[in-house]
Amino acid sequence: MLHGKRILLIVAGGIAAFKSLELIRRLRERGANVRCVLTDAGAKFVTPLSLQALTEDKVYSDMFSLTDESEMGHIQLSRDADLLVVAPATANILARMAAGLADDLASTVLLATDKRVLVAPAMNVRMWTHAAMVANVETLKKRGITFIGPNDGAMACNEHGPGRMSEPEEIAAAIEQMIGGERTSASAEKPLAGKRALVTSGPTREALDPVRYISNHSSGKQGHAIAAALAQLGAEVTLVSGPVSVADPRGVRVVKIDSADQMLAACLDAGRVDVAICAAAVADWKAAKPAASKIKKKAGVAPPSLELTANPDILATLSKPGARRPSLVVGFAAETENLVANAIDKRTRKGCDWIVANDVSAATGTFGGERNTVHLITAQGVQEWPTLSKDEVAMRLAGAVALQLGRPRSIKAAE
Ligand SMILES: Cc1cc2nc3c(=O)[nH]c(=O)nc-3n(C[C@H](O)[C@H](O)[C@H](O)COP(=O)(O)O)c2cc1C
Repeated sequence: MLHGKRILLIVAGGIAAFKSLELIRRLRERGANVRCVLTDAGAKFVTPLSLQALTEDKVYSDMFSLTDESEMGHIQLSRDADLLVVAPATANILARMAAGLADDLASTVLLATDKRVLVAPAMNVRMWTHAAMVANVETLKKRGITFIGPNDGAMACNEHGPGRMSEPEEIAAAIEQMIGGERTSASAEKPLAGKRALVTSGPTREALDPVRYISNHSSGKQGHAIAAALAQLGAEVTLVSGPVSVADPRGVRVVKIDSADQMLAACLDAGRVDVAICAAAVADWKAAKPAASKIKKKAGVAPPSLELTANPDILATLSKPGARRPSLVVGFAAETENLVANAIDKRTRKGCDWIVANDVSAATGTFGGERNTVHLITAQGVQEWPTLSKDEVAMRLAGAVALQLGRPRSIKAAE
């Protein structure tokens, strides 16, 4: 996590500058404060307004701005940051860094800083492999500048090879490795203090008779980790859990249930919450007429047929508009094919705000495993998260929840 960390993001003039917008979102989800310096060329690719809206901070471009200098000197910009990130790093800015030039605000800040610097190069493959660039990169690496990427692949200029800027997610993860982890203040550690959360987890069991049931392979690991992460960030958490073998998370009120009907009743009993996260794998169907006593196997008699009926839709129920609706409702989509398309469709059908989509086909080992690869689907689009441990997915989701619940209404409404 990056709670309370201050990142100065320098956006230079490359075609990959649009990815810096996504990078800001990823960093803010992790709790970082981001402030931007935009080069003149950078402003040809992204607008200061977009950067300002996403960072909720002023964007700095002009070295000779009297206002900026009186409010925040160019030297102060770098002093105030925990890390400087150049993304995209153009051939031009890398050359100016290597040469020690200070001919605009970005290069001056980079020369004046005593903070660590991470650069994410993005340029045409021939520019990246040019002898001048190779020498510049070597110089910068020797001086302790950290590089991420570039990646190999198809480029905007119709060429193929190294030169693509690393994905925002990769850059955010690198930043987390460089400066994440340490907490700076109590409020940064507990951004969900005073908030109430409801989490569902595990499978449900739908009785066929007193000894048999329909269920699924959900282990509850992801849902329980989410409850723990929300509690760690200060939320008062009720966890409604189906039958699982994982331990109850610390500091969380746990309500144990078996069936989907019981899970819905427990969710409604939990009272008003700020956020509801439905991570349970609720059985879609239950037996239409569960037998009151054990269904006996009889020699020569055909197996009984099973008539199913739909279970209540807990996610759709919690998402219904009204005074009791949580500010944020998050559903999970466990899919074995067409993951993203099905999850986008599910978000609309259920009326929830976000969907965490995870591929649960057998090869992924998601059910019962320790790791998870998810996409977060929101009204703004699809975020592809890297494969993370379930605890990391949980903490990242909790960080995103904290950020969302802490956002001013005007920004939420504009999205
Ligand atoms: C359409 C277009 C795309 C460009 N893309 C890149 C790029 O991906 N990488 C790069 O190093 N330069 C790229 N350039 C060139 C830079 O914009 C140019 O070198 C500029 O001086 C960089 O300034 P800055 O480093 O101060 O932002 C591009 C130029 C244009 C017109």
